[in-house]
Amino acid sequence: MFDSEFSSIEFAGMKLANRFAMAPMTRVSAQANGRPNELMVEHYKRYAEGGFGLIITEGTYPDQEASQGYENQPGLADALQIEAWRPVVKAVHASGAKIIAQLMHAGAQMQYNRFDKQPLGITEQKPVGKPLGLYGDQEAWHDAKKMDESDFERVLNGFLHGIRNAAEAGFDGIELHAANGYLLNEILSTHFNTRNDKWGGDMQSRAQFLLDLVKAAREMVADDFVLGIRLSQITITDPDYQWPEGEEGFNWLVQALADAGIDYIHTTDNTTERPALKGGTRSLAEVVRDAGIPQIVNGGIDATNYAKVAAHYPGAILAIAKAALGDPQFVNKVKAGKEPDALNFDMLQPIASLETEMRWRRQHGRE
Ligand SMILES: Cc1cc2nc3c(=O)[nH]c(=O)nc-3n(C[C@H](O)[C@H](O)[C@H](O)COP(=O)(O)O)c2cc1C
Repeated sequence: MFDSEFSSIEFAGMKLANRFAMAPMTRVSAQANGRPNELMVEHYKRYAEGGFGLIITEGTYPDQEASQGYENQPGLADALQIEAWRPVVKAVHASGAKIIAQLMHAGAQMQYNRFDKQPLGITEQKPVGKPLGLYGDQEAWHDAKKMDESDFERVLNGFLHGIRNAAEAGFDGIELHAANGYLLNEILSTHFNTRNDKWGGDMQSRAQFLLDLVKAAREMVADDFVLGIRLSQITITDPDYQWPEGEEGFNWLVQALADAGIDYIHTTDNTTERPALKGGTRSLAEVVRDAGIPQIVNGGIDATNYAKVAAHYPGAILAIAKAALGDPQFVNKVKAGKEPDALNFDMLQPIASLETEMRWRRQHGRE
């Protein structure tokens, strides 16, 4: 039994102050060279002080090749970026929270990259819809270069490089971003992955790269360094995508990731309950719960439903994005029975940067 979502909990080898996590949120506010700045230190610290027991950083690029996806996105690809993350990690730890770095490769969803002009994709396939104005100006997706055999090795080594750097910067662990349409998610998706070599085909073949990466990472890092993964079926521009293998295929993937050495699985969807899988009756999060794997659940959690979600997923961490953006004091407030401030989307317009948010907060007395 778990006392309360506000009590401390052992999760994936970490002792967390409670079951609330700040969900990963891209804020395109690092320096042009990918180093976090003072504003980012203050930003993450605010959420740790606001009561979140776990902070998951925004998607961060691990290499100096095609992984960066946005202008002013932070990286964990070089020594100076490692140095610049240290004050963030220190500030979060000083407030009693743990911090996980989310590592992402933009794949075909690249909107800006300082090193490679062309996106790298599992095939040449473009994402559906249009690029996100929230993270910078771009009218249409660029053509992706289809990964060849050497690219698989380079991407794998790039992730391992980023993971080593995250450990060096003092993070408690990393989360592989295999959700929302970025490269590791594209590899699993039959919209993108139509390859007929060993990397394409059924779920087992499409998952092979991810499993190789998890195994290699597990062998490389210390036992107490947390290795998580974030999975979604839908992407930021394609809310309808479904894996053809349905619930059975996802259940296989979840077990295979656990066997490969993953410490937790973080699922994201519109809600934590939606039976999203083809022909299935359970949500992504329910499949992970029923498999008995440490999990983070995300999607639509707010002040009105968090207790219900916590009860439905015993022992799970609740990751909160939009409701947290609305009020960084979310956890402290709901714990005290107070109503948190709601998110006003103007705070993220025209671009979702911290400067835009701070300007809006000053203007509206919500600092
Ligand atoms: C401004 C913004 C930036 C986001 N950036 C990321 C990201 O970097 N990585 C990621 O996995 N999800 C990202 N997301 C998705 C959220 O983590 C979350 O999955 C989604 O907002 C649904 O959860 P919610 O209902 O609690 O908002 C972002 C969401 C927002 C609103």
